[in-house]
Amino acid sequence: MKTIDCHEVAKEIVAKMSVAQKAKLLSQVVWETTDVHQIHPELEKFLLADGPAGIRRLKEYFDEDIYNTKPSTCYPSPSTYASSWNRELLYELGAHIGIEARQEDVDTMLAPAVNIKRSPLGGRNFEYYSEDPFVTSELATEFILGMQEEGVGACLKHFAVNNQETRRMNINVRVDEEALQEVYLSAFEKPVKVGKPKMVMTAYNKVNGEFCASNEHLLSTLRNEWNYQGVVVTDCFAAHDLGKGIEYGLTLQMPGETGPKITGRIEELLLNHELTEDELDQAVIKNITFALEAMKERAAHDPQQKTYDREEHHRFAQQVAEESIVLLKNEGVLPLLETEKLLVVGKLAKTPRFQGGGSSHVNPYNLEIPIDEIQKQNTTVDYLQGYQLDGTEDPSLFDAVLSCAAEYEKVVVYAGLPDLIESEGYDRKTIQLPTVQNKLIQELTKIHKQVIVVLANGSVVEMPWKENVQAILEGYLGGEASGTAQANILFGKVNPSGKLAETFPIHLEDNPSYLYFPGNEDEVSYGEGEFVGYKHYEALGKAVLFPFGHGLSYTIFEYANIHIQADARNQTVVLNVKNTGNRSGKEVVQVYVQKQSVDQSICPKKLVGFEKITLDVHEDKTVAIELDPRTFMNYSVANGQWEISNGEYKIFVGSSVADIRDTQTIKIENQPILIHEDSTIGDMIKVQGMYEKLESAFRKHPASLKFLELTKDEDPLKALSMGSLMTLNTLKRVDETLNDVDILSIIAKINNN
Ligand code: GLC
Repeated sequence: MKTIDCHEVAKEIVAKMSVAQKAKLLSQVVWETTDVHQIHPELEKFLLADGPAGIRRLKEYFDEDIYNTKPSTCYPSPSTYASSWNRELLYELGAHIGIEARQEDVDTMLAPAVNIKRSPLGGRNFEYYSEDPFVTSELATEFILGMQEEGVGACLKHFAVNNQETRRMNINVRVDEEALQEVYLSAFEKPVKVGKPKMVMTAYNKVNGEFCASNEHLLSTLRNEWNYQGVVVTDCFAAHDLGKGIEYGLTLQMPGETGPKITGRIEELLLNHELTEDELDQAVIKNITFALEAMKERAAHDPQQKTYDREEHHRFAQQVAEESIVLLKNEGVLPLLETEKLLVVGKLAKTPRFQGGGSSHVNPYNLEIPIDEIQKQNTTVDYLQGYQLDGTEDPSLFDAVLSCAAEYEKVVVYAGLPDLIESEGYDRKTIQLPTVQNKLIQELTKIHKQVIVVLANGSVVEMPWKENVQAILEGYLGGEASGTAQANILFGKVNPSGKLAETFPIHLEDNPSYLYFPGNEDEVSYGEGEFVGYKHYEALGKAVLFPFGHGLSYTIFEYANIHIQADARNQTVVLNVKNTGNRSGKEVVQVYVQKQSVDQSICPKKLVGFEKITLDVHEDKTVAIELDPRTFMNYSVANGQWEISNGEYKIFVGSSVADIRDTQTIKIENQPILIHEDSTIGDMIKVQGMYEKLESAFRKHPASLKFLELTKDEDPLKALSMGSLMTLNTLKRVDETLNDVDILSIIAKINNN
C-alpha cells in the first residue's frame, strides 16, 4: 500500500461499489469467506483472534472446536496482571502478545476487556481488570499502545456495562447516568482517546432499554464525545437493529450474515428509509480503512521478523505473574527457606489452574507444574493431594495429611477454584472455595501453626480460615509460568509487589450489588449507583477481608513529606517513600480523593492516581503524582457533561484504600459553573459572586428577587426550601414578569462571563 492515506483510498473504493458489495462488507463472515480482491486488488481479508491472556488462534478458519487452538504463550489472566498496577509492564505485555499475533497473521486481537467487576459472582471477572475504572483505564491504555506498536490492532471490549454473564445476550441494564458516566464509561474513555484501538466491540446487553450495538447514547458518546473513528464491531450475533446501529456508528457485525442475506437486509433498510446510503458508505469506509491499514502493517513487518523467542515470552509470562501475585497475609512464615522440611498439599499443585474458561482460553506453550518448581528450590519437600478437585469428600486424603503434618516445619496448601467454575457464559453462584478445601485448611490449622495458603482463583473468594493461617498468597490465574513465579515468591527470590484491584469482602452479601444481582428475566438494576466495590465499603466504614489496593511486601516502605504542589494548570501530590527494610522491593503509592459534602449526601472516595516504584534497601525516592483535572469534576446529568465541582476535597495517600499514610485538603472554589434553567438558586449562589449576578439579573423581576432574598432569611424553611430550591424554570411560574426569553438571556449572560 502506497503511503497515501488509507481513508482516502477507502473513500475512492466505496465510491465505485454497488449497494450489494457495500452491504457484504458490514459482515465479518463475508470478509473471511469471499474474495475481497474482487472489490479492490489491495484489499485482503483480515483476521481477528481472541484474547486478553494470549492468542486463541484456531487451527482452521472456522474450526468449531473453540479450544482446538495453536499453542501460544498463556499469560496471566487480566485479573492477575491488573494486580501488578504496573503501566510499563502492561505496555510490554501488549507488545508481547502483538508480536505473537503478528507471527500468526492476526491483524487485530479481541482484547482488552475492561468491564467493571461489579459483583464478585461475575463469570468473566477473571478476564476483567478491576472494580475501579481508573486503574482499569490506566492499564488497558498501556496494553493497547504496546500491542499496536507491534502493528497489531487492539479491540476494546465490551462496550458497555457488560458486568454479568447471566442472560448476557438479552438482559437490560438499568443504570443511572451518573454511575454510567463516572464508573462504567470512564473505564473505556482513556483507552479510546489515548489508546486509539483499531476496534471497539459493543456488548451483548441492553443499556437503559437499547441494545449496545444500536444504543444511540453509548454510540454517540463513543463517536461524538470521544471522537472515535475506528471500527465498531458487535459481539457475536448481536446486531439486533443493524439500521439503527449503523446510523449511530456501528460498522461491522461479528460474524454477521452471509452475502445474500446481508444484502437483502441492507436493501430493505434503504428502501424503508431506515438507513441512508451515506450512513452505509461511512460504515463501509471505516471497515475498508481498517483492512487497508492492517495490510500496511502486515507489509511493514517483514515475514523474517515474524519469529519470536518462545522461551523469552514464557519467561516474560513468569515476570508478569511475579509482578502481579499479591501477598495478602504473612506472619513471619514467608519467605520459605530452601532447607526447611516442607509439606505441599493440594491437587492444584499438580494440576494447576492458570486461566479462565471461554473465548479467552489459550492452549499453553509450556505449562509449569507448581510442585515441580517448588522441588527445584527445596529438595526436602513432600507432596500430598489433600482433596479431590471436584469437591468430593475423600477421608483418606484428609487423614494422609493430618496424620503427618506435624512432622514438617511448614505446610503449603495450594487451594482454589476448579476449572469451569469461572467462565464466560455463566456466573458463579457462590464465592466460597470447595468445602473440602476449606475443611482441610481448618483442620490443618488446628494441628499446625505454620500454614501457608497459595490461591488459584480468577476473582474474590471467601476465606473462613483467614485468621488461622499464617500466610496467604493470592496467585489468581497466573498463566503457564505461574509455577516458577509462585515458587520464586515463596522462597523470596522475588519480593511480592502485587496489589488487589478488587475488594475481597468478608461475605458475598456485603457486596453492594448483592441485592440486585443478577436481576430478573429481563432486567437488572444497578441500584448501588456509583458505589461499586471499595466506594461502598469505604462510605459505610464496612470491614472487609482484604481492601482494594492491599498487598504486602517482604520489606517496609515509609511515607514522608506528603504535600500538594499546585500551579496554574494542575495539582500534584508529592511525597517521599523510603525502603527501611532489608531487601529491595516495589511499592504502589496510591492517591484517593473524596469531595467533602456540604449536605447529607456522601461523595464516593475515588482512586485518582498511582505510581509503582522500585526501591533498594534504604533508598528514598521523591514521588510526584499529577492529578488529572477530572479529579475535581463530576458528571453533570443536567448539562450532559463533566464539570468542575467547587468544594473541598480530601486527598488520601497510602499503600491501599485502607492503609492511608496521610491526608491533605484541596479547595476548588469560584470555578465558574454553567447554570441552566433547572439549576437551583441554592446551588448557584454557592459560587462566589453568583448572588450578586442573580440580584442584578432580577432587577426587573421583583418576585424572583424576593425568592433570591429569601435564601438569607433566618427561618431555615424559607431559606433552604422556598428560596434555595427555586429554579429559573419555577420562578417563571410565580413571577409574571419572567418568561422564557428572559431566562435564556439570564443564562447566557451568566454563563458567558
Ligand atoms: C464472545 C465474547 C467476546 C469474544 C467473541 C469472539 O462471545 O463475548 O469477548 O471476543 O465472542 O470469540
